[in-house]
Amino acid sequence: MSESATVLEVRAMTRRFGGLVAVNNVSFNVAQGEIFGLIGPNGAGKTTLFNLITGLIPPSDGKLLYLGEDLTNRPPYKIAARGIARTFQNIRLFGELSALRNVMIAQHIHTRSNVLTGVFGLPRARREEAISRRKSIELLDLVGLLDRADEKAINFSYGDQRRLEIARALALEPSLLLLDEPAAGMNSNEKHELSEFIRRIRERFNLTVLLIEHHVPLVMGLCDRIAVLHFGQMIALGDPANVRNDPAVIEAYLGDE
Ligand SMILES: Nc1ncnc2c1ncn2[C@@H]1O[C@H](COP(=O)(O)OP(=O)(O)O)[C@@H](O)[C@H]1O
Ligand SMILES: [Mg+2]
Repeated sequence: MSESATVLEVRAMTRRFGGLVAVNNVSFNVAQGEIFGLIGPNGAGKTTLFNLITGLIPPSDGKLLYLGEDLTNRPPYKIAARGIARTFQNIRLFGELSALRNVMIAQHIHTRSNVLTGVFGLPRARREEAISRRKSIELLDLVGLLDRADEKAINFSYGDQRRLEIARALALEPSLLLLDEPAAGMNSNEKHELSEFIRRIRERFNLTVLLIEHHVPLVMGLCDRIAVLHFGQMIALGDPANVRNDPAVIEAYLGDE
């Protein structure tokens, strides 16, 4: 990665839950096109950091800038509309809906039809529905789930549900994609494919990716840079080789493996 523009700035971000400091004065920048890894033991504050970046919870302190714009304290839908999409560690799909519907629902942020045009079935709503369907089918194809488009999400394996969540996030046409433990529940073959897949979608959609992942080989092989969280604090930041050999990281995290 050379001289790419900064897209995301996390500045002195802190989040307290009562007496617990889940994210403690964390700062880093992410460059356009980077695959940026976030690792650390369970409870280190990784998901909380994602929740802060996507506006699900407000920070106790600190700032969030995206493409130079201050997004601190914006609600999730406004942050999503700026092009930041995510998947969840605890998968959040509509289990009773088909895979196709799960992806189509996400696109409503991009369709202009309101309740009235929907109710009266006006031509624009129909047209938008058709476009949304076609785009969703393309995304399902991309994640390898096209042949199961009409199946209920609840019937999918964890690995397939995670792929479906990625398709749904991509339906928002993000420029920054946050993936919270996307390899959890996948077998080693699926993990390897996931790695390739993340690279592919980065190219195809011109994405910047933030990735929380426990599987160390996947993180080391895939990420341009890695930040290590430990009890809410960032204890290391650098390229995979540097982070891997950092004594503080080995003691806090990698040593347990
Ligand atoms: N909504 C919340 N209320 C209280 N404590 C929370 C909440 N969310 C997270 N925490 C706590 O913050 C710490 C960091 O959690 P989390 O960000 O989920 O860690 P990680 O994703 O790195 O495993 C944990 O101690 C967790 O129990
Ligand atoms: Mg987590």
